[in-house]
Amino acid sequence: MINRAIELIRNRSNPVVFTGAGMSRESGMRTFRGEEGLWKEYSPERLSSISGLREEPEVVWDWYKMRLMAGEGVKPHAGYRALTHLQKLKGHLPVITQNVDGLHSISGQTDVLEIHGSMRTASCLKKCGFSTQLSHEILKETPPLCPVCGTILRPDIVLFGESLPQETIARSYELAEECDLLIVIGTSVQVWPAAGIPFAALENGVDVIEINPARTELPHSESVISVRRKAGEILPLLVGLKE
Ligand code: APR
Repeated sequence: MINRAIELIRNRSNPVVFTGAGMSRESGMRTFRGEEGLWKEYSPERLSSISGLREEPEVVWDWYKMRLMAGEGVKPHAGYRALTHLQKLKGHLPVITQNVDGLHSISGQTDVLEIHGSMRTASCLKKCGFSTQLSHEILKETPPLCPVCGTILRPDIVLFGESLPQETIARSYELAEECDLLIVIGTSVQVWPAAGIPFAALENGVDVIEINPARTELPHSESVISVRRKAGEILPLLVGLKE
């Protein structure tokens, strides 16, 4: 499987990458599902939903403060550097990510679609127009309030119960359907519509490489090359960065 993945990555000229929380696991960020997943310990409905934010803003913001602190000083691992190397080799490498940690952009990928938004900024829940970079200053008060209209701020991520940014998700499906190789890294492929991206690629005859130590919903087929390895370990090898 690994040799087939190396050959596909070498020979295809228009690959696209699709990532989930597992892509940042070796940078120290926890995943949501699986044995040590966050959703085993915390309730996504209570902490990562628009209703939860409205009902218990303090609780939700305490949770995001904890995640922001956990993300402080987190650095891209060798797998991210391998993707930056692949982007140089191919001249372009669109990256569709479910992650909100910003590590793809930090590591030098230039065409990143953050389909679940970003933890780096917050905006007014009432959409009065105010938005800001999230800083210790802003996070001093819980929940942080909009300085313009006094409403609570919301993290600029897509919360459960909200729809994804339409043009971003439409472009993501287009990229997956029109590329000649989709490299799926570190996602349990369970949260729709993002989870539909690999299936859309397969329906359009696109070969899919899946990098994930665990099995997922992706089918066993000629077109799915499953590399049951960790992203940080195997990506440098797959892109020819280390023998
Ligand atoms: N390398 C590659 N994959 C890994 C690694 C690793 N080092 N460690 C774990 N994984 C895999 C796990 O096996 C799992 O299949 O990463 C996947 C992470 O799955 P989830 O925790 O479900 O994360 P994700 O698929 O990104 O979740 C999608 O759900 O809660 C929402 O908004 C949240 O964006 C998130 C969405």
